[in-house]
Amino acid sequence: MKKILIEGGAKLLGEVTVSGAKNSVLPLIAATLLAEGVSCIDDSPWLSDVDCMCRVLESLGASTCFDNGTLTVNTRNLSSSEPPGELVRKMRASFIVMGPLLARTGRVCMSLPGGCAIGARPIDLHLKGFEAMGARISIDHGFIEASTPHLFGSRIYLDFPSVGATENIMMAASLADGLTIIENAAMEPEIIDLANLLNVMGAHIRGAGTNTVRIEGVEKLQPARHTVIPDRIEAGSFLAMAAATGGELIVNNVLAEHLQPVTAKLQEAGCFMEIGYDSIHILGPDKLEPLDVKTLPYPGFPTDMQAQFMAMLACCRGASTITETVFENRFMHADELMKMGADIEIDGNCAIVNGVSRLKGAQVNATDLRAGAAMVIAAQMAKGVTEIGCIEHIERGYEDFVTKLEKIGTRVKLVDV
Ligand code: UD1
Repeated sequence: MKKILIEGGAKLLGEVTVSGAKNSVLPLIAATLLAEGVSCIDDSPWLSDVDCMCRVLESLGASTCFDNGTLTVNTRNLSSSEPPGELVRKMRASFIVMGPLLARTGRVCMSLPGGCAIGARPIDLHLKGFEAMGARISIDHGFIEASTPHLFGSRIYLDFPSVGATENIMMAASLADGLTIIENAAMEPEIIDLANLLNVMGAHIRGAGTNTVRIEGVEKLQPARHTVIPDRIEAGSFLAMAAATGGELIVNNVLAEHLQPVTAKLQEAGCFMEIGYDSIHILGPDKLEPLDVKTLPYPGFPTDMQAQFMAMLACCRGASTITETVFENRFMHADELMKMGADIEIDGNCAIVNGVSRLKGAQVNATDLRAGAAMVIAAQMAKGVTEIGCIEHIERGYEDFVTKLEKIGTRVKLVDV
C-alpha cells in the first residue's frame, strides 16, 4: 500500500504538461473492437484504468502494447465476447465495450459494472439504446446478456445526457443497419473525440458535440490511428491547485475551449489568466473570492471538478455554495476536508463552504479519483503534513502525478506503508 505525504505551504510555480484524456482514451480503446486489425492511439496516458481496459480487451482475444505514449491494439483474433467479471466490476468504464462487442459479434455477456462509489450510476440508458436497436437484453444474477442477429438504426431519446450511454450507442449504431438518431445526447468533448476516431475508421457520424447525434450505419469499419485530446480535468485540477496556493503556473497541452466553465469560475474567484494557443497561464490571488458553483452536463461546470473546487474554496474570503446535480452522492470528500479543519455544511445535493483562515495537515483518504485530487489541493493549502491514503484512486486518472507535482514545487513524497 502506498500513501502520498504533502507538506503544505508552498506556492506552486512553473510549468506542467497535461496528459491525454483518461475519459477519452477508454472509449477510444473500446472502439478499436469495432474493426478487425491494428489500431494505434497516440498521446495515450498510462494509467491504471487504461491498463484495466487493455486487460479487458486482452481477455476477449485482442493484444495490446503500450510504447512511449502510443497504445497499439490488435483485434484480429477476437475469441470471446464475455469480459471477466473481476475486471468489469473493478472499473465502471469497462461497460463501454458492450456496444462494440454487440455490434461486432452479435452477443455480449458481462457483469454489472463497478467503479467510483459516487452514487447508484445505473446503466438503464445504455440498455434502452441497445434494445431500441433490436437487441434482446436479459439480466440474471448480476450479469447482463445482450444479443441480436443484427442491429438496426433507431431514434433514441436519452432521459439524461449520459456520456457513457451516448458513446456506447454511437459505437453500436456505427455498424447497425440504417440511421440512428440520439436525442438529448451528451455533448462532452470526449464524445467528439470518439466520433472523430469512428469517422476515420469509416463511420458516418454527424452532430457529435451537439445534443442530436446522427449515425448512418456502415457494413464494416477499418482500424485507424488517432491522437487523444488533452485531459481537461487534469488541466482543471492543476489550475485549481495554482489558484488555491496563490501560485503561478503555465499549464501546457490544453484546449482552453474545453475548460471555459472552469476558467470562468477561476477568474470570478480572482485569478489572473492568460489563454495561449495550447496553454493557460494562471496567477492565483493571495485569497480567493467565494463562488457559487453548480455542476451540469457539458458545457456546464464539470462534476469531475467539483471536489477540487470544494478544496480550493475551503480558505476563501467568505461562504461558497456548491450544488451537485449530475451524481446523487458525490460529497464524500467533504468529510475528509473537514478532518483538515474545513467548515462545510451539506444539505442534500448542496454544500456550503465557509472559508476558514487555514487548513491543518491530517490523515485523510482519497475516497474516489477526483476526491483524491481534492485532497492533494487541500494538503498544499494546509499547515503541516497531510498523509493521503487510498491513492490507488488517484493513479486511476492522473499520469505521473507525483513527479508533476514535485516539478512545480509541491513538497511531496510517495511512501510505502
Ligand atoms: C462519465 C465520466 C465521468 C464523469 C461523468 C459525468 C468516463 C469514463 N467517465 O461517466 O468521469 O463524472 O461522465 O460527466 O467518461 N445515468 C443513468 N442511467 C444510465 C447512465 C447514467 O441514470 O444508463 C446517470 C448516472 O447515474 C449519473 C448521470 O447519469 O447520475 C451521469 O452519468 P454518465 O454521464 O453516464 O457518466 P459516465 O459515462 O458513467
